[in-house]
Amino acid sequence: MKQCMMTIVENIPLIRDTYRMKLEGDVSAFDAPGQFLDIQLDGHFLRRPISLCDLDYTDRYCREGILTIIYKVLGEGTGEMTRMENGRELDVLTGLGNGYDLGCAGERPLLIGGGVGIPPLYLAAKKLRENDVDVTVLLGYNSAGDIFYDDEFGSLGCDVLISTADGSAGTKGFVTDAFRELKTEFTYFYTCGPEPMLRAVFEEVYKGAGLSGQMSFEERMGCGFGACMGCSIETKNGSRRVCKDGPVFRTEEIAWQIPE
Ligand SMILES: Cc1cc2nc3c(=O)[nH]c(=O)nc-3n(C[C@H](O)[C@H](O)[C@H](O)COP(=O)(O)OP(=O)(O)OC[C@H]3O[C@@H](n4cnc5c(N)ncnc54)[C@H](O)[C@@H]3O)c2cc1C
Ligand code: FES
Repeated sequence: MKQCMMTIVENIPLIRDTYRMKLEGDVSAFDAPGQFLDIQLDGHFLRRPISLCDLDYTDRYCREGILTIIYKVLGEGTGEMTRMENGRELDVLTGLGNGYDLGCAGERPLLIGGGVGIPPLYLAAKKLRENDVDVTVLLGYNSAGDIFYDDEFGSLGCDVLISTADGSAGTKGFVTDAFRELKTEFTYFYTCGPEPMLRAVFEEVYKGAGLSGQMSFEERMGCGFGACMGCSIETKNGSRRVCKDGPVFRTEEIAWQIPE
């Protein structure tokens, strides 16, 4: 973890309530997709955790760079972020969390993202594609108007499949409905999304189809770096802090009981 000042170099809406922000500065603390940063906002005691979506180095020592985050406006903090202009400096904790272990991907991984769980999968897809891995991405949204970053995944060379809850684009239903239609044999999966989606993926993809994977949790956080126990979840190995021991956990560690 590193605390540093980063400068906003882009802050634009992608769709009505979802924005992309690019921050320039010291990015040396990041070493895996799926990690997150914690942003200090004026007038708020608690920092706001947001996943790393993309990272481009601007020096050959991989110390300086431009990172991308995508955030959905949910409350006061993210609302305030939409009004920030280029050139403004933000106090940021960088390199938080464990991130995805891409060494498990095998030849044909499946990436499953829902809503604001989609951004961290972009950097995972980019790294996998850099190693010529065939990547399928399954992206779930509420409706066609909520779709973002499908083209960006396509530009990486991923096979992109979409599901929308109201059926206005792609498969009607949830990511698990679209998963059931897939005929491909996958080697592993990586996912991030709201907890109901993670539970459905755990049941359908891990328990049902027998595919192992890694799941990233977006639990409510206090300190964000392991000091307060405010983000604990129960795993088969006991209580674990999402901010420090996660946010990524292997399916084998997760203690969810699935009804028979
Ligand atoms: C590891 C991690 C990665 C995340 N990545 C993203 C991302 O890439 N894009 C994105 O849009 N959102 C992401 N979130 C959720 C994001 O942190 C919250 O939406 C945001 O903090 C809400 O702040 P607010 O002030 O607008 O809302 P408020 O509801 O006013 O926030 C009040 C407090 O609750 C916390 N909080 C509220 N909702 C959440 C939530 N869902 N998860 C965690 N804390 C929450 C806030 O941090 C704050 O301390 C992530 C959360 C975690 C834990
Ligand atoms: S938020 Fe404090 S320990 Fe995780």
